[in-house]
This record gives sequence, C-alpha cells and structure tokens, in this order.
Amino acid sequence: MQTNPPRGMRDFYPEDMTVRNTVFNAWSNSSLSHGFSQYDACVVESLNLLQRKAGEEISEQIYTFKDKSGRDLLLRPEMTPTLARMIASRYNTLQFPLKWFSISQCFRYERTTKGRKREHYQWNLDIVGEKNVSAEAEILSTAVQAMSLLGFTAKDYQIRLNSRAILSDLMTSLGIPQKHHGTAFLILDKRGKISDEEIETKLTENDVTPDQIKRIMSFISISSLEETEKLLKPDNPNLLSIKELFSMLASYGIDDCITFDLSVVRGLNYYTGIVFEAYDINRKFRAIFGGGRYDNLLETIGGHNETAVGLGFGDVVINEILSERKIDTAITSPNYMVGYMDKAQFATAVTISEKLRKYGHTVDMSLKPERAKNFFSRANRKSAEKAVYLGPDDLTKGTVKIKDLSERTETEIPIDKIG
Ligand code: HAM
Repeated sequence: MQTNPPRGMRDFYPEDMTVRNTVFNAWSNSSLSHGFSQYDACVVESLNLLQRKAGEEISEQIYTFKDKSGRDLLLRPEMTPTLARMIASRYNTLQFPLKWFSISQCFRYERTTKGRKREHYQWNLDIVGEKNVSAEAEILSTAVQAMSLLGFTAKDYQIRLNSRAILSDLMTSLGIPQKHHGTAFLILDKRGKISDEEIETKLTENDVTPDQIKRIMSFISISSLEETEKLLKPDNPNLLSIKELFSMLASYGIDDCITFDLSVVRGLNYYTGIVFEAYDINRKFRAIFGGGRYDNLLETIGGHNETAVGLGFGDVVINEILSERKIDTAITSPNYMVGYMDKAQFATAVTISEKLRKYGHTVDMSLKPERAKNFFSRANRKSAEKAVYLGPDDLTKGTVKIKDLSERTETEIPIDKIG
C-alpha cells in the first residue's frame, strides 16, 4: 500500500499546519485590514469556464474529468474565472468597486519542481470595477503588508512591475498588428524558461520580422521607467498611469519594494494593463506572487463590461523561503492538561475541563485513566502550561492541585473555584 499522496499532491501533518496557518493568517489579516471581504467557491468547475485561447501553459495543465452523468468538469487551476462567474451571477445586486479575497485550493498538472506542486493554496485578492490605478496601489499595499507580517522587507524580495499596454504601444510603433500582441506576450513570458533563440523562432512564426524582434528584445532589457519614457510620447496615457501608480506607491511608503521592469509580461492571456510579479531578492525561487489588470475577462465570462485588478499568491514558494528561515513549526500546546487516576474521577475531570474551556483556556483531557507518572511525562512532552491530575483524595477533599509546569509550582484550590 502506497503511503505517499499522489505525485505533486500534499499531506499536511500538524507541524505543517502550523506553518500553513501562519501564512493563511498573514493573508487574511492583511486583506481584512484593507477592507477586503472573503468569499469561497467550489473546487470543481465546468470545463467550458476555462476554455480559452491556446498558448497558455495553464490550459495544458488542467485536471479534467466527467461526472457520472457525462458532464465535462475540472479541478480549478486558478480562481479568477470562478470569481468572474460569481460576479456575473449576482451582477445586479453587487456594489462596485468590490474588494474580495479568498484562499483557494488550486490544481495544476505541472512538472513538480522546487516551488511548483500539482496542488497549492492561492491567496486571491481582487478589486473589480475601479479603473483608477489606485486599485493596483491598494492590491500591492495589501500584498506588501502580508509579506511584512511574515517578516519580509524590501531587503528580502522585490516586486517587478510593468504595463502590457505600454509594451503593446511599443509593438504598435514597430508596426506589429494588435492581433499578434497577445501571442507575443505569451512567447516573451517564456523568457528564462526557454532560450532567447527559441523565443526569436517563436516570434518569427508569429509573423514578427527579424528587425522587429531585435527591437522587442532590446525593449525587454529595459528596467527603468525613465528609459521607457524616451520611447513614448510624453502624453501617452499608459505612461501617465504607470507614473501615477508609482507616485501612489510612494504615498503608501512601499515604493522601495517595487521596481519597473519592461520584461514582465505574465503568462495568462487575460491581462491587459499593469502586470507584476514578486521574487525573492536572490532570484533563487520561482515567483512568490503575481497579478495584474484584466479588462475583458468579466465581459467574456458574464457579458458585463467591468475592469478588474488582482493577484494570486501561492503557499508553496513562500513555504520554501520560510523554511530556509527556520520559522517555529512547533505545534500549539494546550494551556491545560487534565488527567485522572480512575474512572471514578472521570465526571469531575470533564466538569473541570469544561469550566476551563468556558474561561477561554485550551484543554487537552486524558482519554483514559492513567498513572500520575505517565500523565505528567505526557504533559511535559506536549509542553502544556499547566496540569491538573485527579485522584480519589481530591474528590473527597473537594479540591484540585494545579501544577505550573514551567515554574514547577503547585496551587491547591477548591474545585468550584476553578476558572
Ligand atoms: P499565476 O501567476 O498563474 O496567476 O499564479 C499565481 C501564483 O500562484 C504564483 O505566483 C504562485 O505563487 C502560485 N502558483 C501557481 N501555480 C502553482 C503551482 N503549480 N504550485 C505552487 N504554486 C503555484 C494566477 O493564477 C492568476 N489567476 C492570479 C490573479 C488573480 N490575477 C488576477 N487575480
């Protein structure tokens, strides 16, 4: 019998849950402190929700299956189409702009490598219905706060930010028709995964001339906004909005974590504007999180013309980075352990445990009678703060002894005064 989960899938033992909860808490606390509301959805979706144009890696990685009635279904590889579906379903009753977050389990049939598994949890943070780049600034600020709750500063990671719209303007200026831009983005996103020669071959197959390829390759080596400005008209609206965004990021005080980089394009078709990706400072791992502005997905999925911006932040890469820092994975210890010598003390042990719980303490009560020596060695192994052990004499006297296991002190109090 195989005891490992299927390849790329994950078990979470109690010590893994400690880390997972630390990450989930940082995500939710940051979302809630920025006024986002939580939502959730089914893990199984209809296949047609994810049917998109070819070229995206994600389309090849979807787990699909048929239910017993022959419906074509899938395990969601990402949350954004589901978000679009949910918004479409209640479009008329929702208040826009809306700010929603979820922590969703996603499945992708990927080649498993460091930082990539076939199952991951993804924090999704989206603002729907706000055109202004204040939405990007708010999303980025929330992500930066989550990173800071996990102990990371601008010295540990950088968010690289670009605008697909600017790259599109540059491609148009080279004479590349708009209809080829989307495919060109997906090809450029493969940079680093395949050689530059292969990228050039793919662009050629997409009707881009050698001269245009040379110019595109020189564009994507630019990582300064000043240099990009020289290539565009000063009143270019996409340039103006990215400049406005950087000034907002400065107001939030988070511009030290964010740099401009014309090579960031992202691998999903639906992005239309600002895009960003966060990496650890040494670029040792894959992207920590990524996201951007998507103008057409809500129209494609629900027929409503609504712009949106958001991010996806997975738990796998951040876990790898946290494990390098050796964060505390200790399982939470109970405040109290309550044990008893014989069945005769069971009912009193329950009364004491319930009373302590009512007062907000966590209590781990023994499941069977045991000898005092065994009980106290178990309580020490579990690092409980305090221990209560009941014997026949305690019941006769109507008192209990509460042992403080770290101070090594003992207090005797009447059972009805416990709390
Ligand atoms: P994505 O870049 O495909 O974007 O994924 C976002 C993040 O999810 C990645 O940066 C990574 O942290 C994590 N991730 C993705 N695939 C895996 C995997 N196989 N194993 C471990 N972690 C993974 C999206 O999914 C967009 N829907 C995000 C978004 C939301 N854009 C706007 N709103």
